[in-house]
Amino acid sequence: MFYILILLSVFGVNAKNANMTELFVIPIHPQHFNWTLKGAVDEFSYHPSLLNAPDLPQWIHYVYSKVHHTGYLYGVPPINQHNLELEIVGLNRRTYETRRKVLPVNVHRKSEVAKYEAQLKIDNLNVEDMIDENRQRRLLDVFKLKLWPESKSDLYVTFLASAVQLGARLPLKPNEGEGVVLRVGSQFEFSSALIELQEEVKPLWKLISCPRDFKRTTVDRLFREEGFALDWCAFRLMTVKETDRSLSQQHSSHGESDLMESHLTLGLGQNDRWSRPAKSQIPQRSYVHEFAFTILVPMLVMILLVVLLSLILCFHHEGMDEASSEYFESVFDIFEEMRGASDCNTVYCRPNPPPYSGPNRKQVVAEWLA
Ligand SMILES: *[C@@H]1O[C@H](CO)[C@@H](O)[C@H](O)[C@H]1NC(C)=O
Ligand SMILES: *[C@@H]1O[C@H](CO)[C@@H](O)[C@H](O)[C@H]1NC(C)=O
Repeated sequence: MFYILILLSVFGVNAKNANMTELFVIPIHPQHFNWTLKGAVDEFSYHPSLLNAPDLPQWIHYVYSKVHHTGYLYGVPPINQHNLELEIVGLNRRTYETRRKVLPVNVHRKSEVAKYEAQLKIDNLNVEDMIDENRQRRLLDVFKLKLWPESKSDLYVTFLASAVQLGARLPLKPNEGEGVVLRVGSQFEFSSALIELQEEVKPLWKLISCPRDFKRTTVDRLFREEGFALDWCAFRLMTVKETDRSLSQQHSSHGESDLMESHLTLGLGQNDRWSRPAKSQIPQRSYVHEFAFTILVPMLVMILLVVLLSLILCFHHEGMDEASSEYFESVFDIFEEMRGASDCNTVYCRPNPPPYSGPNRKQVVAEWLA
């Protein structure tokens, strides 16, 4: 009993729980580091990571909310995820004191995993707004009570990410929401209302940029009443297959080739550590093409041009008639004369040296022989 109490105080009290495929949120307060709040509330910052690793696993994200003066870890554990330990380093930016806290996360198997998911993009909110449980409940209630009554017993959030993180542009006005993408899922089939809704928004999928204030869907009002401005171009219904789930260990979990899909959280499990690739695995760049295009091709072109030019000149010369050759000769003569004249106009113009007048070669040889 005593040992159990000790174990509880070391692991149990501290540990956080998460369910596979279900969104979890872990708030981080100064109190977790035994810091008491005095003065400025935003003087603390936190750096979370996997224990003894430089970063978080890819399926856990961290965001700091200036509104709530709280950091939030959030994410959706993939299926087959084991328990893990996170490490959070807190920094007091006033005193530069750091404290460290290890946070075990127990990942529980979910008995009924969602098989049907609806994806939404909410334009007017940020991730930290959607982390709020009340807001999540209000959103789920729109589905449970109006659009998807079948899912009433088990609807839950299966995905949450900032739209900017997924490749959307930042809003022009900083005070506008960045946008957030989330999915709600259930094991029960889509209602006919949801399927109709998807048919209604399908024509929008072709648009490259969605009109931000497109609100002509019949159910837009239900969401707006609760404060959610939906981007109907991003609305999708998705069926999750068991194979997709296990594939999601390496790939995105749904086969659709969509901007959002390609950036899905990758569940890489316990061994989610960066390892150095082997030298042999690093691709080598071949310079053959560059060599051919920068040296061989211009050289070939130049040779061709030279050949062509000589041919043209040769044939042209042969085809010259008498009058033109006379003309050219006269031009040549004129040049010769001019050169001769200009030679003697310069300072260095001298008379040609006298012919060599040394002893005759024959004489020299004869003298030598004598
Ligand atoms: C996990 O699931 C259980 C039962 O389904 C639920 O009571 C609990 O709140 C869930 N935990 C989290 C962190 O969502
Ligand atoms: C906070 O104080 C408690 C009790 O003194 C201690 O067990 C815990 O380790 C402290 N936490 C940190 C992060 O220092």
